[in-house]
Amino acid sequence: MVTTILSILLLSVPLFSTSLSTSPLHESTMSMEPSEMETLFKVMELISSDRDWRVTNPDPCSPHSSWPGLECKPSSDNPNLFHVSRLNFGTPPNPTCKPTSTFPSLVFTLPSLQSLFFFNCFTHTNTTLSLPPHLPSSPNLRQLSLKSNQALMGPIPPQISSLKSLHTLTLSQNNLHGKIPTELSTLSSLLHLDLSYNSLTGFIHGGIGGLRSLLVMDLSYNSLSGPIPASIGELGLLQKLDLSSNLLSGEIPASLSSLGYLSFLALSNNSFKGGFPGGLTKLQNLQYFIMDDNPMFVTLPSELGSLSRLQELRLANSGYSGPIPESFGSLSKLTTLSLQNNRLTGGIPEELGGLSHIYHLNLSKNMLNGVVPFNESFMRRLGRSLDLSGNPGLCVNGEDGFEGAKAGIGVCGNSRNNGTVVMQGLPLKSSCAPVLLSNLLLVLLGSLSMF
Ligand SMILES: *[C@@H]1O[C@H](CO)[C@@H](O)[C@H](O)[C@H]1NC(C)=O
Ligand SMILES: *[C@@H]1O[C@H](CO)[C@@H](O)[C@H](O)[C@H]1NC(C)=O
Ligand SMILES: *[C@@H]1O[C@H](CO)[C@@H](O)[C@H](O)[C@H]1NC(C)=O
Ligand SMILES: *[C@@H]1O[C@H](CO)[C@@H](O)[C@H](O)[C@H]1NC(C)=O
Ligand SMILES: *[C@@H]1O[C@H](CO)[C@@H](O)[C@H](O)[C@H]1NC(C)=O
Repeated sequence: MVTTILSILLLSVPLFSTSLSTSPLHESTMSMEPSEMETLFKVMELISSDRDWRVTNPDPCSPHSSWPGLECKPSSDNPNLFHVSRLNFGTPPNPTCKPTSTFPSLVFTLPSLQSLFFFNCFTHTNTTLSLPPHLPSSPNLRQLSLKSNQALMGPIPPQISSLKSLHTLTLSQNNLHGKIPTELSTLSSLLHLDLSYNSLTGFIHGGIGGLRSLLVMDLSYNSLSGPIPASIGELGLLQKLDLSSNLLSGEIPASLSSLGYLSFLALSNNSFKGGFPGGLTKLQNLQYFIMDDNPMFVTLPSELGSLSRLQELRLANSGYSGPIPESFGSLSKLTTLSLQNNRLTGGIPEELGGLSHIYHLNLSKNMLNGVVPFNESFMRRLGRSLDLSGNPGLCVNGEDGFEGAKAGIGVCGNSRNNGTVVMQGLPLKSSCAPVLLSNLLLVLLGSLSMF
């Protein structure tokens, strides 16, 4: 498409006419500044051996140059002069990277570069992300994406904060180490920050609150430690926050509840503990709340039931005790509820059986008891995506036996459940008594009918 645009532009302007006496170009056949072209060739020679770029593409921005992964734009003050605006390396049809390629900091001296992508490029020769020390760096760079470069190591350089126009900074799936530079928080135009799947360490600095325009922050799969800074609440436009699989600890800060646009929140696989902030109900746009694998050891807050847009609620493997709040039955958009591997007690609230969009419900490995309150059509709809196994005190009524077996539990009063229901029932709180009693009755009736 760009080539087409270029062709139209080139056809419609007298590019090579000698009347261009005011052109700063030394050779009338060239559409680029010679110094910019030389930088481009040097970058290409550092990265790619796909072809001899100087020979095959002497005029890179000409529509006939067929240079993959390259886009040019005409200069704003001279439509006959072209600048490199986008470079894309690593996956065909873009230029591929040779095994000896190292990060070309020179690339940041291209004056009009807007987007730069290196995907699966630095894979063999250890290299670091660096910017040229003194020159002003690509003042127009909006998008920098370095992804899946296993040999890209070392720290994120503080100088990255000199790329003032950055909207998107993706440094995912590299081998970056060290702390997130505090200078990063001066990138006030940043909308999208993805540093996931590296080996970053240290605290999340409070200055991160300075990224006022941020919509997406993904710091997952690193080794960041310490608490979530309270200043997170200053990222008032944030829609997605993923801090999962780090070493973060402490409680969820109350300020998180001021992120009113948040629709995706993932905090899984950290060391968060203790209660949820009271204001959590303010997150009325939250659709995904994913917080498995944390040593929370509290009861489940019934306030979660007022997050009416929730589609996925995952709170598995986190030491939650007490009952499943009935209010979870009001989450009418819920498709996935994962509460497995906790210490939940009491009966399954019958309100859950009214969740008409749910297709994945895992309550396995808890201490739930009583008769499963779901009707057959509900259980058939979920099929094997309903997991109730590992709750010795749960059982289904006889007519639901087939569906119950798929969900991992037996029929009330069957020999498979005998004893265990009664045994589980005894030490529990009195609030569970009616369910337990009726269960006990069923067991008794069941064993009587056997004779
Ligand atoms: C590249 O880095 C890795 C990981 O730090 C290291 O094990 C390896 O020895 C380095 N290779 C060279 C050639 O320096
Ligand atoms: C948990 O986080 C650690 C640290 O990032 C990671 O190595 C591990 O794979 C994660 N575990 C899961 C189950 O995602
Ligand atoms: C099963 O329960 C759901 C939710 O309570 C209800 O809408 C549906 O009509 C019930 N189906 C049958 C066959 O009873
Ligand atoms: C439910 O969770 C358990 C424990 O993590 C897991 O083994 C099982 O596969 C899950 N069940 C379903 C249906 O996903
Ligand atoms: C069920 O009860 C019978 C009779 O008390 C006993 O022999 C059997 O082992 C019990 N089965 C289970 C699974 O507990």
